[in-house]
Amino acid sequence: MKSKTHIFISLIFLCLTINTIQAQNKTSPSYVLDCGASGDGTDSDGRKWTQDTKFLNSSDKTATAKAQSQDPALPSPVPYMTARIFTSPSSYMFPVSPATRLWLRLHFYPSTYNNLFALDSYFSVVADGFTLLKNFSAFITAEALTQAYIVREFSLTPAISGKLNVTFIPSTEHNRSFAFVNGIEVIPMPDIFQPAALVGFNDQSVDVNSSSLQTMIRLNVGGQYISATKDSGLTRTWYDDSPYIFGAGLGVTFHADQNATIKYSTDASKEIAPLDVYSTARSMGGNPEVNKKYNLTWVFQVDANFTYVLRFHFCELLFTKVNQRSFDIYINNQTAQHGADVIAWSGSRGVPVYKDFAIYVSDQVGVDDQIWVALTPTVSMNPEFMDAILNGLEIFKVNDSSGNLAGPNPVPSDMLLQAEAKGRSFSSGSSSHVIGGVAGGIAGCAVAAVVVITVSKKRKRMNNGQSSGINWLPLYSHSHTTAQSTNSNSSHLSTLAAGFCRHFSFSEIKHGTKNFNESLVIGVGGFGKVYKGVIDGGTKVAIKRSNPSSEQGITEFQTEIEMLSKLRHKHLVSLIGFCEEDGEMILVYDYMANGTLREHLYETNKPSLSWKQRLDICIGAARGLHYLHTGAKYTIIHRDVKTTNILLDDKWVAKVSDFGLSKTGSDLNQTHVSTVVKGSFGYLDPEYFRRQQLTEKSDVYSFGVVLFEVLCARPALNPSLPKEQISLADWALLCQRKGTLDEIIDPQLKGKINPECLKKFADTAQKCLADHGLHRPSMGDVLWNLEFAMQLQENPEAAKRFQLPENNSEKDRETLDVVEDTTEGEVDEHMKAIFQQLVNSSAR
Ligand SMILES: *[C@@H]1O[C@H](CO)[C@@H](O)[C@H](O)[C@H]1NC(C)=O
Ligand SMILES: *[C@@H]1O[C@H](CO)[C@@H](O)[C@H](O)[C@H]1NC(C)=O
Ligand SMILES: *[C@@H]1O[C@H](CO)[C@@H](O)[C@H](O)[C@H]1NC(C)=O
Ligand SMILES: *[C@@H]1O[C@H](CO)[C@@H](O)[C@H](O)[C@H]1NC(C)=O
Ligand SMILES: *[C@@H]1O[C@H](CO)[C@@H](O)[C@H](O)[C@H]1NC(C)=O
Ligand SMILES: *[C@@H]1O[C@H](CO)[C@@H](O)[C@H](O)[C@H]1NC(C)=O
Ligand SMILES: *[C@@H]1O[C@H](CO)[C@@H](O)[C@H](O)[C@H]1NC(C)=O
Ligand SMILES: *[C@@H]1O[C@H](CO)[C@@H](O)[C@H](O)[C@H]1NC(C)=O
Ligand SMILES: *[C@@H]1O[C@H](CO)[C@@H](O)[C@H](O)[C@H]1NC(C)=O
Ligand SMILES: *[C@@H]1O[C@H](CO)[C@@H](O)[C@H](O)[C@H]1NC(C)=O
Ligand SMILES: *[C@@H]1O[C@H](CO)[C@@H](O)[C@H](O)[C@H]1NC(C)=O
Repeated sequence: MKSKTHIFISLIFLCLTINTIQAQNKTSPSYVLDCGASGDGTDSDGRKWTQDTKFLNSSDKTATAKAQSQDPALPSPVPYMTARIFTSPSSYMFPVSPATRLWLRLHFYPSTYNNLFALDSYFSVVADGFTLLKNFSAFITAEALTQAYIVREFSLTPAISGKLNVTFIPSTEHNRSFAFVNGIEVIPMPDIFQPAALVGFNDQSVDVNSSSLQTMIRLNVGGQYISATKDSGLTRTWYDDSPYIFGAGLGVTFHADQNATIKYSTDASKEIAPLDVYSTARSMGGNPEVNKKYNLTWVFQVDANFTYVLRFHFCELLFTKVNQRSFDIYINNQTAQHGADVIAWSGSRGVPVYKDFAIYVSDQVGVDDQIWVALTPTVSMNPEFMDAILNGLEIFKVNDSSGNLAGPNPVPSDMLLQAEAKGRSFSSGSSSHVIGGVAGGIAGCAVAAVVVITVSKKRKRMNNGQSSGINWLPLYSHSHTTAQSTNSNSSHLSTLAAGFCRHFSFSEIKHGTKNFNESLVIGVGGFGKVYKGVIDGGTKVAIKRSNPSSEQGITEFQTEIEMLSKLRHKHLVSLIGFCEEDGEMILVYDYMANGTLREHLYETNKPSLSWKQRLDICIGAARGLHYLHTGAKYTIIHRDVKTTNILLDDKWVAKVSDFGLSKTGSDLNQTHVSTVVKGSFGYLDPEYFRRQQLTEKSDVYSFGVVLFEVLCARPALNPSLPKEQISLADWALLCQRKGTLDEIIDPQLKGKINPECLKKFADTAQKCLADHGLHRPSMGDVLWNLEFAMQLQENPEAAKRFQLPENNSEKDRETLDVVEDTTEGEVDEHMKAIFQQLVNSSAR
């Protein structure tokens, strides 16, 4: 299946028009190198990449290599699938103009090359005397940012010798260390930097134009991804800003109206940013009283002990007079600009301007090193409209006095590491040392055992997820591209969606659903109807339109946008965008071609799923839930895990959906009184019901029900059955205890499940249904056990020889006492009575 996908993606690449980028200055050559490649290649943007051999010194010992596997999150095989490997210091030498600044972009795809593991690779990169990377681990960086590949962009001062020397130096502190690079771009650039005022000091500025810089952030505020080929000649990539917005204060985004003309004030300012950046903006919103009381805020994670230059791009799109819109700009809680007025700076509407500010970020103990950018109206100047505006934002790191630009490797969260190590140990079968530092004791042995037996080449990496909400820089990873995806299929769409949340107009939505044609309804929920729709002239999406009469809808709508726009994971359904217009609340999701898990289990005329398919789906869903519980900044409890909330895409990849009820640790300070427990009967954690105490173990319980549902192919609650069989959870537990589970499994599966696998699976489900949350396994353990069950099914002989760890007692995480905030009367009294019975039942 995987290789088919790749062929298909390659075909898409071939079909795109080839559109090589020309350097601005014809006299200074530019280099776009596919390192280690045996020939020239073209990437998905149509850029041409050439071989790197002739820029190396032939007396250096280097090797070429192919990546062992291709991560589906890669935007294109070129340049990532080949690499140049260095085991001793080696240099590239590029003839360049001695008077021109240069972009240097380095592309890294941490994989296994010639049996060298990216995990072992630590290296430095020095270019023309500037240290760009030091003790750099592409593997750790990609892991922490949950990205498949890393791009680093630098703007270097002119190489006065006329030669740019880029040297890769493998670390000598780590055994087996080597350096590698997949792609290098050296591109001449005009002088676009000037000295910038240092915030917090009256008359100090930073000499930016004599320094080298690293690009940290480049945002098209209020707009969409802009690819290198759509930039104004400098091959920069611009990203949507919404993932960096702090809290729920998204403000409003808007687009220049069609008749408006946006014109650069001088020819040179074309190079500063493309017009697309200036034609979209984010402002605070229409309510002056609200605007006065909040800051439109973005937060960025950066390295400490460096000076940063922030370039703010502005273009007034609505107003024409001074003091119609005046605002303050704060950087890290200090005033960078009081009474900013775009018209005063630019002279008129539709004329772009930019402002640079510099700030030093010192190392604060115990605090994440961040840059906060905040805008709020300057109330004291009494502007006509209490509002602020921003069109684009770039953040550059400035080299320190020793010419260094390198920061430390980011630190992945422990849970992420553990999950990754487990996932990977199943997948590669080659990197037993992956686990060494992570899993100790019993778990370590068990994981190592699996490494030995495994034959599966399945890829189990988590990707498309952000490790901690807004904080890390997803820059450069979530690539590729809304604008050009017209004839895409859904595999393309998930990369698109892996980008960011997008704002749709109501007319786009109406058009995409044929004016909410009833024939396109694919689901109905408490929130409203779900339609199948089409956007961008061919991309299939699911469109959820709120029922305007549902008050609960508003909070759930916001919860879902907030959650999903910050969470990206292969096994969570992707939110593509939303529309909030004319009182409409509409969410647009990736279309899940195969619908819900339930509709493939029972009461259906669809073909029965094989056992392996079912296991795969359970593993995927477990992975998604595990990510929710541990991968994000706060523990997120789904609260409504059930087979209708597990969706399947066209490749049968399971995706957890419906976050309307989710709770995060940050909700803890809500202190409303509770009356009714939310969730779905048949899946509800009895402990939650009794004590109204919500923990992630409530999801584990519900997932246990899902596991039995998958095994037995019957509903979680079936009131038409004899009393002891009504609740699947009770009935399955009873059968499990009596040893008669065999009798209630789906007849379609009879004789097709390896007995060892069935035992592992049923034991896992049983543990999930423990009466007390404390006794239930964590989602990570569930995942692990399901993976093992899969091994027992696929390769039983080898797997059986190894002893499994007994329910390793992972320390229970603190519980969240979340109190509910709504009343709802829609619960069927009959069901309620049944549920009451179940809860009081002493059978457990
Ligand atoms: C290649 O490397 C050798 C030894 O490191 C050095 O002597 C020689 O000058 C280099 N050649 C070029 C063209 O840089
Ligand atoms: C192009 O590069 C040459 C040096 O090779 C330099 O003299 C010239 O000013 C550059 N032109 C521009 C437009 O940057
Ligand atoms: C390139 O830079 C490295 C590191 O600064 C240095 O060791 C090497 O000699 C330089 N190569 C040339 C040919 O100048
Ligand atoms: C590197 O390998 C040597 C010899 O095998 C060993 O003594 C040393 O502890 C290793 N160092 C590290 C950092 O692993
Ligand atoms: C940087 O720019 C300023 C003003 O544009 C100029 O005075 C200064 O000489 C420049 N420095 C360098 C190193 O080019
Ligand atoms: C653009 O200008 C034309 C003619 O002035 C006008 O009819 C039209 O309504 C304008 N369109 C917009 C979107 O303002
Ligand atoms: C920043 O500088 C301080 C003082 O020189 C040093 O103690 C600290 O370790 C540095 N932090 C980082 C992240 O390099
Ligand atoms: C700015 O202030 C906010 C809230 O007052 C605080 O959470 C944040 O850490 C501050 N940021 C910095 C960089 O000091
Ligand atoms: C906006 O942020 C600044 C800097 O942190 C702070 O001083 C100010 O009080 C904030 N304004 C509002 C309305 O929250
Ligand atoms: C960056 O490095 C250059 C060259 O080493 C130096 O002149 C400049 O002062 C450095 N910048 C800063 C902000 O220290
Ligand atoms: C190199 O990076 C690794 C991983 O981030 C870290 O554990 C190690 O301490 C670093 N070594 C140095 C010399 O900074």
